[in-house]
Amino acid sequence: MTGKKELEFNKIVSDILKNENFIELKYEVHHGISRMDHSLHVARITYLACKKFHLKNTEEVTRAALLHDFFRTDEVTNKVFINHPLYAVNNATSEFNINALQQNIIASHMFPVCKVMPNCKESLLVSLVDKMVATYELTKYKAPIELGAIFIFVLNFLIIQR
Ligand SMILES: [Fe+2]
Ligand SMILES: [Fe+2]
Repeated sequence: MTGKKELEFNKIVSDILKNENFIELKYEVHHGISRMDHSLHVARITYLACKKFHLKNTEEVTRAALLHDFFRTDEVTNKVFINHPLYAVNNATSEFNINALQQNIIASHMFPVCKVMPNCKESLLVSLVDKMVATYELTKYKAPIELGAIFIFVLNFLIIQR
């Protein structure tokens, strides 16, 4: 990420990264790395895709992307894989002032296995970025990840426009 974008990205997420409950994600294991690092990967790629396609709500989408896995494994009572998005919504709502779009982004990021459907292209974007980043993290595949994200987003955007 170039200097200007790095600065803007840091400004968008700085308060979240200072939150003491969010900092606990550093100690949660996720795809072989920390959940903090995974969340930052998803937020960065989402931010770049928003900039690339000139989305007007880059800030709120990037923040929701960072918060999409804001949960501790020990607080999810069962079926972590399916239910964790709702815990993340609850945690994000209680710690930050998130809106309805951000709630849908977080709640639907595990689509199609979770209980909430994506209701906008921003939700679909974060869900796709999350899957691509997770695949990358799990396989250590060395593809240019940002190009991959943009490719998937373009594909998805074309489908929505049809
Ligand atoms: Fe997740
Ligand atoms: Fe994730």
